Amino acid sequence: MYLGLDLGTSGLKGLLVDEDQSVVREASAPLKVRRPHDAWSEQDPDDWIEACRQVCAALGDLSAVRAVGLSGQQHGATILGADHAPLRPCMLWNDTRAHAEATAFDDDATRAVIGSITFPGFTAPKVEWVRRNEPDVFEAARLILLPKDYLRLWLTGEAFSDMSDASGTGWLDVAARDWSDALLARSGLGRDNMPALAEGSSPAGAISDAAAAATGLPAGIPVAGGGGDNAASAVGVGVVEPGIAFASLGTSGVLFAATGRFDPKPETAVNEFAHALPDLWHQMGVILAATDALEWLSKVLGRGAAELTGGLGALQAPGRTAFLPYLGGERTPHNDAALRGAFAGLGHASDAEALTRAVLEGVVFAFADNKIALEATGTRIERLVGVGGGTRSDYWLAALATALDVPVELPVSGDFGGAFGAARLAMMADGAGRDIATVPPIARTVHPDPALRDAFAAGHDRHRDLADRMKGLA
Ligand code: XUL
Repeated sequence: MYLGLDLGTSGLKGLLVDEDQSVVREASAPLKVRRPHDAWSEQDPDDWIEACRQVCAALGDLSAVRAVGLSGQQHGATILGADHAPLRPCMLWNDTRAHAEATAFDDDATRAVIGSITFPGFTAPKVEWVRRNEPDVFEAARLILLPKDYLRLWLTGEAFSDMSDASGTGWLDVAARDWSDALLARSGLGRDNMPALAEGSSPAGAISDAAAAATGLPAGIPVAGGGGDNAASAVGVGVVEPGIAFASLGTSGVLFAATGRFDPKPETAVNEFAHALPDLWHQMGVILAATDALEWLSKVLGRGAAELTGGLGALQAPGRTAFLPYLGGERTPHNDAALRGAFAGLGHASDAEALTRAVLEGVVFAFADNKIALEATGTRIERLVGVGGGTRSDYWLAALATALDVPVELPVSGDFGGAFGAARLAMMADGAGRDIATVPPIARTVHPDPALRDAFAAGHDRHRDLADRMKGLA
């Protein structure tokens, strides 16, 4: 058996799969995000360890596991001191406090090396924020890890990252798949402060005796390099060759396409990262709030998200009520940490149902912005697979297919997200070929609604107009 662990933002999930890639057991443990100030987003790294202990205990007998794979929320700055204990809470991917530091780092020379704009959520600007605002922490820092790699440190005692996750730090030479000494030096750091690098499908550490005792995993089995959660999900849904893409309706929203070469167009605000498999890269547009926007509305209205979306019936043309999902700023295509969300066109008839529809539409229009951004780089999306918790809403799926004007293919029931991709990477670290990363059987395809295509295109135009008007206002 193989174990895939996905350290998400809202929880840690473990998936045990057998040699035939069938899911044997799964378990998860919730995680909380702290937002002590607007635009801040933090977690305590030791909560991840506790969640991992709980998940391993809930999975039961792990003695037959041959390899472990890790997937995780990207970009988080986990800053460790000499004893490898965290010096402060981890600043997460959707923490945008370091926007000034990101702007200072974002020049053409840097873009050419890292393949993207330096976004505020990347690791390097967040560490720069710490250097400026918490100099004692920066002075004491010895090792900086991404979230899943802190879990690996606990599991193996070894400091490794993989190429896909390392791409989101702002310190990786993404074409060379190696740390950039120049970019590290600009941050006051060197290779000594970084984990070693491995491909996602290669062994990167082995379960230590201490972790074996804590988890029930066999000591000495390999832990694969793994991947950032998006690259790992791509391995899980078979997005490992050009032409295939996935749309993920998770806490964040991601439109992800595999590419055979490093050919960045940073001005589109698309990320060009190394993939979790050797000799492969990928492009990714990221919106910061997808299901997160619906969760926000659900909290405000005091009604569950499933209850809100459950009663919507068949897809309708976008109404007057519109919503911009920029609750914590936006990445692609705006790269604007100060941008904020809005409801527009409210009227006496704007009830909970109208607000819910507006939120779902606002998110799919943000996806449509991302499709335009990806296509501006020359990428063509021939097949699109839908993943993430938001795909449980038929209304949302129909709106997504119609707004993107692309059929959305949905895998058979099961979990083909980051944890499954991580389990596949574990199989590869144990000797399997990359050809195991197939597209799962498709259960159904949600087609664009031709009768509503024009209404959604008009809604998207209005969304873009509203977004432009919001700029500088927030
Ligand atoms: C990707 C990103 C998010 C997180 C979510 O760049 O910031 O998708 O990885 O876990």
